[in-house]
Amino acid sequence: MPTSGYTYVCKFDVLEEGVPRRFEAEGVSFSLVLTEKQVFAIYDVCSHSAVSLSEGEADGCTLECWLHGSRFDLRTGHPLDPPATRPVPVYPVQIEDGCVYAQIVRRSVR
Ligand code: FES
Repeated sequence: MPTSGYTYVCKFDVLEEGVPRRFEAEGVSFSLVLTEKQVFAIYDVCSHSAVSLSEGEADGCTLECWLHGSRFDLRTGHPLDPPATRPVPVYPVQIEDGCVYAQIVRRSVR
């Protein structure tokens, strides 16, 4: 069993390396990204202009917004390039028995 506070998201084998996938849990939209042999969970809305980050491209530990090209660090949520200047939330992930769980905490997004 995952640690308390983690929510079941999906089976691990539905994730494709480098292909972000959008999910919703606890009233929060987020993307799961399998890359670099890890699964990352990141809030699905770009901090620059509120488009879906799951439609962007993953490269290493970054996810690039499809609209203006800001890349976000999947480990921290911080933008690495303009025009985005504010981070997006990231969430801890656990994988147990072929299932992916994330600790989705609703946070205020400025
Ligand atoms: S909407 Fe994402 S960088 Fe502009």
